[in-house]
Parts: sequence; C-alpha cells; structure tokens
Amino acid sequence: MASTPFIIVAIDGGAASGKSSSARTLSERFHLLHVDTGSFYRAITAELLRRGVAATDLAGVKSALAGIRLGTRVEGRSARMEIGGRVAGDEIRSREVNDNVSHFAAIPEVRTALLAYQRGQAVVARERGFRGLVMEGRDIGSVIFPDADFRFFLHADPEERARRRAQEGQQDAIAERDRLDSSRKTAPLACPVGAVSIDTTHLSLPAVVERMATAIAARLPDS
Ligand code: CDP
Repeated sequence: MASTPFIIVAIDGGAASGKSSSARTLSERFHLLHVDTGSFYRAITAELLRRGVAATDLAGVKSALAGIRLGTRVEGRSARMEIGGRVAGDEIRSREVNDNVSHFAAIPEVRTALLAYQRGQAVVARERGFRGLVMEGRDIGSVIFPDADFRFFLHADPEERARRRAQEGQQDAIAERDRLDSSRKTAPLACPVGAVSIDTTHLSLPAVVERMATAIAARLPDS
C-alpha cells in the first residue's frame, strides 16, 4: 500500500498579511501541525525582557539563551513553545513585546538558537501522527525549509494590514516591524525565489485559503 506523503507547507509574509488565519484553516483541513514561528520569537522576547535583558546587550542575550531550555507542547493542532516547561500566555501579544520582538529577531544568535528547534517541529508532527506541518513566519521558505513542498508568500497593502491589526484590538506599529524585518542582515523578510506570491489586500480569507488548498489537495486529499 502506498504510504501517505508527509508534506511541509511554508507561509511567509509581513505583519497582519493573513498568515495565521490561513495556516490555521489549512492545518484543520489537511490535519497538519500548525507552527506559528512568530509566537516563538515573541515567547523568547517576553522571556528575555522578563530577565531584564535588552536587545542591545548581546552578551546578555547570549548568556540568557544558553540558559533557556526549550520544549514543545501540542495543543489541539498547534505547536506551543515551552520555556523551562512553561508555555507563555497573552503577554507575547503585549505592546512591550510588539515593540521589541523585531530587535531581538534581528540578532543572528537568536535566529541560530531557534533554527534546529523550528526544523525539529517536523519530527514532532510525525510523532504525533499529523500528515505534515504548516509553518508560518518570515524565513520559512527561504531558510528553515527551503525544500518545503509548498511555499507561499502573502502580502497586502500596509493600510489594509494596519486596519486588520487595529480590528484585532492591538496596538502594533506593523510598518516599523516590517521595516526592521525586511532590512535586517540575517534572514530578512522577502519573497523566496520560486514561492507563490499572493496579494491578500482585496481577497477574503476563504479565497486566500482556496488558492493554497487547491495546490495542496492535488498531493494530499482532504482529511
Ligand atoms: O503576527 P504578526 O505577523 O504581526 O507577527 P509574528 O508572526 O507574530 O512575528 C513577530 C515578529 O517575530 C516579526 O515581526 C519578526 O520580527 C519575528 N519573526 C521572525 O523574525 N522570523 C520568523 N520566522 C517569525 C517571526
């Protein structure tokens, strides 16, 4: 009997471009582990801030990272990062984390500390019987899984993205985060060569998901 393939779907894009909503829907439809790597960078940021470490203090960042033990807890279809056995709560969406996360994410040592952890999510997905994983972030199709079966890049006009974020009730300077994320030296936000680019400005969530799902369904029938 032919075994079902294990697929990796990479979704990259700027803040409030529609990554999380699409990834969540795809994870449900195809029984994929949903991995939101932005939540990982946010959890690390919250932890470093909690320890009083600033993004400008490279020695402090390095020594704090060396002492942090990462784990994964699967809740429903989502992978949650555990730091010292604890999953971070709502504080990862706080104003303070919004303002600091891109500064920590630009530090090569922070990205390196998360590289193997992120790739390891494929092992978690297999062990838990998922049919694959859908991972969202800024460098998934370019750095983490450049050989992913599907690579999508979502973008939308800045005004539309600011409107979406405000609708979520969040204070978030997304234009500034995008600027920092796109201009950093290590793994900048950019559409990877060969990825499918989708402008979500005037598309509904179901329309965005349908475009992705049509491609995926050719390889993996709905669960
Ligand atoms: O939800 P939103 O799109 O606003 O952001 P997020 O996905 O939660 O990511 C928060 C921040 O983490 C980004 O602005 C990046 O600075 C960083 N990040 C990254 O550098 N690389 C990733 N793969 C994911 C997030």
